[in-house]
Amino acid sequence: MSETNVNSSDNDFILLDDNSSVTMVIDEIVRSPPRENPFHIVDLDDIVRKHLNWLQKLPRVKPYYAVKCNDDKAILQTLALLGTGFDCASKGEIDKVLELGVEQHRIIYAHPIKSMESLKYAKAKHITTMTFDNELELVKIAQFYPESHLVLRIRHDSNKALVPLGKKFGCDTKVEGPWLLEKAKKLNLNVVGISFHVGCGSLDANSFYHAIGAAKVLFEHALSIGYKFSLLDLGGGYPGDAEKPIDEFATAINRALDEFFLNFTDIQIIAEPGRYYVGSAVQLFTVIQGKKIVRDPSNNSRAHHVMYYLNDGVYGTLFDWVSLRAINDLERAWPVITNSKRDRVLLPTTIWGPTCDATDIICENVNFPEHQIGEYVQFKNVGAYGMTFATNFNGFPKPNLEIYVKQKTWKSLLALKNINWKDKTLLLLEQYVET
Ligand SMILES: Cc1ncc(COP(=O)(O)O)c(C=O)c1O
Repeated sequence: MSETNVNSSDNDFILLDDNSSVTMVIDEIVRSPPRENPFHIVDLDDIVRKHLNWLQKLPRVKPYYAVKCNDDKAILQTLALLGTGFDCASKGEIDKVLELGVEQHRIIYAHPIKSMESLKYAKAKHITTMTFDNELELVKIAQFYPESHLVLRIRHDSNKALVPLGKKFGCDTKVEGPWLLEKAKKLNLNVVGISFHVGCGSLDANSFYHAIGAAKVLFEHALSIGYKFSLLDLGGGYPGDAEKPIDEFATAINRALDEFFLNFTDIQIIAEPGRYYVGSAVQLFTVIQGKKIVRDPSNNSRAHHVMYYLNDGVYGTLFDWVSLRAINDLERAWPVITNSKRDRVLLPTTIWGPTCDATDIICENVNFPEHQIGEYVQFKNVGAYGMTFATNFNGFPKPNLEIYVKQKTWKSLLALKNINWKDKTLLLLEQYVET
């Protein structure tokens, strides 16, 4: 296997030759001695595959990647080369994306509540498009950035989501929405479209269908008061695990766009996927630091439960993994048995993170193959809200990063550099058909 180290600004990543793969890298890792600190293996090829899949399944919807989900520089750079837009929610995120040379029109400032300083900053940096969901935000915008292009965020929560967002953001579509549009008109502001977010980690594809239907009603109301909308933003909320395709979501979205927006050929339809793009691109490798055998109190020679203590947990990069597993099927992303024979005995097990906190619990009372101290435990699908949520609580370090991309992929990404979105998409789709 041959690898070349590349220094892409501040993030090193490793180019793999055509005969190598991330799977081979992982096979080698689990055969090697345990490492003291946890680490992430990032596969940029997986992000490229996800993008090709998006282009195929949702041809009318341009993705604006939600930076909050994973703001690793190599990931952002890959997406920038693929031509996606970016959903930024803070000055820090805007800076990260601009530093990559991304043009301002590829950024949506998708936070309905912006500080006065952030509004001034967005204006200074020429970030024109931003969301709002209430009257006082409009008043603030009228004062600090009246020429911006505004997108009204409506509330339309999925029936089942890890993080429903409607309690915090978005306006009611029937009364508040029309009223806010009229208010914006009176303030002489430029509202250009509608956005929503059905909730993060949504399990309900049909919520997109209904949310798009609700947006259409507001498009019509806007027209009746003199706004001709040009943007529909479908937000985030798509699955990102390797085992969870977006087909059902794409079907609901495409059906709604055909039904409600067939004649709106001159509007731009965008989405803000986070989890979808990066979830499956990252795998976490932890090592068992300690093992406790809990004995039957009535018979001390009988073990009835095993507890393992890993070097990453919910205060590190596993908070989202654990939470999504709890609302999803429990088999979702079972820690993978590594460097082990598959025929190990299954024991009732609890797996803990490293901190002193007893809420730092990864899996409780599950049947898990017996492991030994020093062995690796691997977690798949930790790319979304893993590293961005991680803390250094108790002084435990966040995982190190090892980023891989195939030489061939990186070469084709660099070749896309100065090509416009439409031509890039055609080129990428041709490649999709070939693979
Ligand atoms: C405004 C907005 N857009 C997009 C996203 C990304 O959502 P997801 O990762 O579920 O696709 C979020 C996540 O919280 C968000 O708040």
